[in-house]
Amino acid sequence: MISHFPLRKFISPEFVFGVGARKLIARYVKNLSARKVLLITDPGVIATGWATEAAAELEAKGISCITFERVTANPRDFEVMDGAHIFKEAQCDMLVAVGGGSPMDCAKGIGIVASNGKHIADYEGIDRILFSCPPLLCIPTTAGSSADVSQFAIINATDQRKKIAIVSKTLVPDAALIDPETLTTLSPELTAHTGMDALVHAVEAYVSTAGSPITDMFALESIRLIGANLRAAALNPSDIELRCRTMLASLDAGLAFSNAGLGAVHAMAHSMGGLLDLPHGECNAILLSGVIDFNFDTVPLRYRNIADAFGIDTKHLSDASVRQRLIDAVLRLNADLGIPERLSTVGVCADDIRSLAANALKDACMATNPRIPAAHEIENLYDRLL
Ligand SMILES: [Fe+2]
Repeated sequence: MISHFPLRKFISPEFVFGVGARKLIARYVKNLSARKVLLITDPGVIATGWATEAAAELEAKGISCITFERVTANPRDFEVMDGAHIFKEAQCDMLVAVGGGSPMDCAKGIGIVASNGKHIADYEGIDRILFSCPPLLCIPTTAGSSADVSQFAIINATDQRKKIAIVSKTLVPDAALIDPETLTTLSPELTAHTGMDALVHAVEAYVSTAGSPITDMFALESIRLIGANLRAAALNPSDIELRCRTMLASLDAGLAFSNAGLGAVHAMAHSMGGLLDLPHGECNAILLSGVIDFNFDTVPLRYRNIADAFGIDTKHLSDASVRQRLIDAVLRLNADLGIPERLSTVGVCADDIRSLAANALKDACMATNPRIPAAHEIENLYDRLL
């Protein structure tokens, strides 16, 4: 029998969501039978105190813990290789990541190399990991990357000057402790960048060619929560209610995109991050309006639903008006969050566009964009946003 519903799997880790979730760390590590933990974090998270608190909690419960903090934004391949070396040398048996997307992606990379050998760049692409990784527990401290629930790891392959996407079921963490209280130390700038990253995850998952009714539900709820709360959260960093809503939006977006895939915005942003080392969320935010414009006519009803979720009353509007209102709303949100309108403001030059477009076309995320672009169309998109 033929059905209109395609076969779709849905993968998610066990997670605990709510204020205080992070305090369950020792119980979860013990449940996974670990004796020695490599805790991956970064200097920014160390400064907030969340990583130190996590390490102290483990030590207090008799679990040995080594902290690895040499992780930068857009985590590099050599940081992954260093971490994997320490993991093996110190005979660790579990990974805990405390931080945003960079420490979490680095921890996933360390797990791949620790179990599979070879160089991290050898695992680029979909389902290329043979042996399962050591147990991984994530405590996210941003509301954006959703690496704590996703089957993605994005690593900067420094010799190729590009970001590689590694996608595998083995990269879904064993558990995530998602605690909105960790967001209270997040700067307005990082709140804006990571919040826009989450919005793009939700939008791209909703228009993805690999979506399903289940991912649609999470994507639309995420768009609704971000449209209604991100501005206020950036203005009121210590408002725990707003932080709960943006953390939930990020979780919803993560469950959607981890299963539905992403699209042209991420493919183009990965290319910019690899070549020019730019902040991921900020790149996504600047690119979003241009990609909506490019994709709109392929899936107009999908974008109408996105506009509705974003708080735009589309009832009596033509498709052309919905497109313009949605683009205007994204540009207004960016402006309110202090995100620039032009790529040149963040350092992109006309000379970069050809390589940026070439790498974006090869990125794994491009495969699920609703409209497959030609090279000159991606070059035009970069050029128009320059
Ligand atoms: Fe992202």
